[in-house]
Amino acid sequence: MNNRPIVLGIVGDSAAGKTTLTQGIAQVLGEENVTVICTDDYHRYDRRQRAELGISALHPDCNYLDIIEQHLNLLRNGQSILKPIYNHSTGEFDPPEYIKPSQYVIVEGLLGYSTRAMRDSYDVKVYLAPPESLRATWKIKRDTRKRGYTEEQVIEQLRQREPDSEAYIRPQRQWADVVVSFYPPSKESEQNNLLLNVRLILRPTIPHPDLTRILTAEGNHLGSAIRLDLDRDMGKPVDILEIDGHATVEQVKELERVMCNDVPYLGQFCSLEGNQEIGKVIGTTGETLQSYPLALTQLLITYHMLRALA
Ligand code: G6P
Repeated sequence: MNNRPIVLGIVGDSAAGKTTLTQGIAQVLGEENVTVICTDDYHRYDRRQRAELGISALHPDCNYLDIIEQHLNLLRNGQSILKPIYNHSTGEFDPPEYIKPSQYVIVEGLLGYSTRAMRDSYDVKVYLAPPESLRATWKIKRDTRKRGYTEEQVIEQLRQREPDSEAYIRPQRQWADVVVSFYPPSKESEQNNLLLNVRLILRPTIPHPDLTRILTAEGNHLGSAIRLDLDRDMGKPVDILEIDGHATVEQVKELERVMCNDVPYLGQFCSLEGNQEIGKVIGTTGETLQSYPLALTQLLITYHMLRALA
């Protein structure tokens, strides 16, 4: 049994869904067992300084990467940190906070895999890669509702930051154990969160649940809503697990059973039966819905965290 904290990384571009996934996994593991760190807190400059310098928050020079490395290493070893706080409402820094790591630490942010020392501190590395059109929709929604920007300002910001996204954010995908892409199945349903599918790229850098038994061509009795394929990503062989938004609860439970077989206590944490909250999303008209692609993504990531703990 591993006594030091288990560290999960969730990296991706602005508004790629990092906070939603982080909160979902923290909820599954029990908020009291999880410390969440957002690396936005390590920005080197406040909003006014960035504007003056003409540098974006996505640029490595705009962040204290060396301090992120140090803090990740301390947290991984169970030691406390004095973490800065970037305030998204004011665009300035608040007084730092003392953080003692819980059993699980989730580190989410823009540049979490950009140095070797950072990458070596995680037990599980996830990268979020929604299609750019979906990310733009999410970013406009979030930044106009929660961060006080107009739609035009957000679109202009996306345009200005694109070179930094390309140079510094997207290349980090190569370091992830799991690449998560939620995507709409077709044009008509694009605005409907309920119907998002997920594509999970599983790299052989960590041991994944053996799904071949239930998902290979001959034995696949789960229908076409859940598929497993061999492919290549960035030139390297990977498994690709696709789960459609219209998968049924029976199909999802079959996958759950395979994962729960491998990892004791997983079912207790987050089977669909054991935890009604798993995969919950807010629909377009404010209603709460259960997304099976999201539920299975949370389950798979939790599987890896518990496996690292064992
Ligand atoms: C992006 C990122 C944020 C980051 C912010 C800084 O939007 O998603 O997480 O902290 O840039 O810019 P701001 O809008 O706060 O000046």
